[in-house]
Amino acid sequence: METASGHLPVMLDRVVELLAPALQSAGAVLVDATLGRAGHAHALLAAHPDLRLIGIDADAAAIDESRRALTEFTGRVLLVHAVYDELPRVLADAGQQTVQAVIFDLGVSSPQLDDPGRGFAYAYDAPLDMRMNQAGELTAAEVLNTYSADRLARVLRDYGEERYARRIADAVVRERALAPLRSTGRLVEIVRESIPAPARRSGGNPAKRTFQALRIEVNKELEALARALPAALDVISVGGRIVTLAYHSLEDRAVKRELAVRSADSTPAGLPVSLPAERPRFRLLTRGAERPSAAELAANPRAASARLRAAERIRAAA
Ligand SMILES: C[S@@+](CC[C@H](N)C(=O)[O-])C[C@H]1O[C@@H](n2cnc3c(N)ncnc32)[C@H](O)[C@@H]1O
Repeated sequence: METASGHLPVMLDRVVELLAPALQSAGAVLVDATLGRAGHAHALLAAHPDLRLIGIDADAAAIDESRRALTEFTGRVLLVHAVYDELPRVLADAGQQTVQAVIFDLGVSSPQLDDPGRGFAYAYDAPLDMRMNQAGELTAAEVLNTYSADRLARVLRDYGEERYARRIADAVVRERALAPLRSTGRLVEIVRESIPAPARRSGGNPAKRTFQALRIEVNKELEALARALPAALDVISVGGRIVTLAYHSLEDRAVKRELAVRSADSTPAGLPVSLPAERPRFRLLTRGAERPSAAELAANPRAASARLRAAERIRAAA
């Protein structure tokens, strides 16, 4: 299914299948923490006539567009413009203590990438913005024009896994001494000029990793996820389920680690029996991370890096 904005929800059938058992009960509530253009949310609301949705997105445009896309479900839908680590407050405001399902479809949406004015895409020359939440204070221009070379190199290396992070950071610092960096187009040139010629010819646009790293830094994506994921798992009721879609390894590692902790028995080693209070609270529904099929990738190349994980709550909190 393609949304009105041309966005194709990633691994949609699998998401619907994995969440179905959690959404059968009357009055079930789904939190979509990354509503985007409501592609997944629309399909889930259509599949479950009693389902209620609490949809969150940091991007005001995503909330506006989703409101339009979900008009047929008005009355079952509460949409909130918020960063997903505000989930506990959003649920408290909605008078909701537990929910039956949560989905996180992380990262950037196709409409964000395709909007030249947002500065997410290396394909367009645009102001260096990259904020998902237009009310946020930190922009890519601020990062590039104020961070020390060391700090910038760390961002590019850690969040972009960029081999030439140091060279790019040094080039940025040299350039900004002449004039502040303002456009994505100039940044693409600087990256291109900073890396050795053979690396320029392989593996797509060489600025891709730098753009990813800046976006993660500007939106503090990993910090937000580290707060939001435990909060989301805490409010899932017994029998409830979570599905996550991650698009880079750091995000996926954070999800994997949190789900592993929750689905392990934490009885101290050496005790003869497992302690009831330490038994696993979740069970994993996916073996490792699931990837999109070849057919999906042919239709939607942007799904290429997707990694899906899912878990079910099997025990109430102690
Ligand atoms: C990949 S898209 C989701 C697409 C959606 N599943 C669909 O089918 O249309 C990710 C969305 O998450 C939002 N987002 C990213 N980080 C966020 C955060 N920390 N809090 C809330 N929303 C966030 C982005 O604005 C974007 O709209």
